Amino acid sequence: MKIVHFSDPHAGGSAEDWMAYFDKRWVGVFNYRFRRRFRHDLKLLEKAVSYILAVRPDAAVCTGDLTSTGQPGEFERTLAILEPLVKSDIPLIYLPGNHDCYVRRRKCVEAMHHAVSYLNGGEYAFDKLPAVRTIGGLDFLMLNTSRPSNLLCSWGFVSKSDDQWLQDICREAKSRPRILVTHYPMFEDHPVLRVRHRLFGQKNILKLMQQSAIDLALCGHVHKPYCRVDASGRGENCAGSVTRNGVISAIDYDPEKNSFSFESIDLAGWNGHKA
Ligand SMILES: [Fe+2]
Ligand SMILES: [Fe+2]
Repeated sequence: MKIVHFSDPHAGGSAEDWMAYFDKRWVGVFNYRFRRRFRHDLKLLEKAVSYILAVRPDAAVCTGDLTSTGQPGEFERTLAILEPLVKSDIPLIYLPGNHDCYVRRRKCVEAMHHAVSYLNGGEYAFDKLPAVRTIGGLDFLMLNTSRPSNLLCSWGFVSKSDDQWLQDICREAKSRPRILVTHYPMFEDHPVLRVRHRLFGQKNILKLMQQSAIDLALCGHVHKPYCRVDASGRGENCAGSVTRNGVISAIDYDPEKNSFSFESIDLAGWNGHKA
């Protein structure tokens, strides 16, 4: 069973209404104008879509931060690029990132809700999360950890009810490997250094991962990709930013060996043919 995992394309743009100068969006617009637009190339997202359509995995997973400030125009640009994938018969799972949940402005929230419904093929609305989606021989646990936070921080949170939901699921006998899909990494090596960017409330999830009640966590948020797994491929895979690094993750689950294997795909070096 093959999965292609990509993350953090970070489309951006200018302020889309005057209120953007009074809420957090001005921080994101400023950051995009003077930093992000020189670092992120949306053409690499187009290339990722071409790669997925060519290799036809059993599932594609996007772990968020489609946008820089969560404005409707930014969502429109990324959804247009992802449209061929949505229209294909390859199941796509998308969970929003903190930049997709940047502010509480209604039109931004509605655009994010639309992206969740549209990219998940109409199967899941944002309000229905968390949810389990079974594809092939794997259970994908879709957990939203993103929400608007203060001006200077990019915090994520595991709510008490979501934590309980995961505990309840993991108490049941496991019929298939469980893959947690969320924007934030569960592993945090530098909680003080990264205090402005970190997730809170994941302690119990880490225990479930240690017990292999959750086999694999797929995340983004950290823009440099990494794969921290044990010999059977259990642990955490961060796809990094596709538009910054030009890499995506190809993951294979072998049911006979009951193990996951990982390959980092360099889109710049991909020749357009099936791998
Ligand atoms: Fe990001
Ligand atoms: Fe993020």
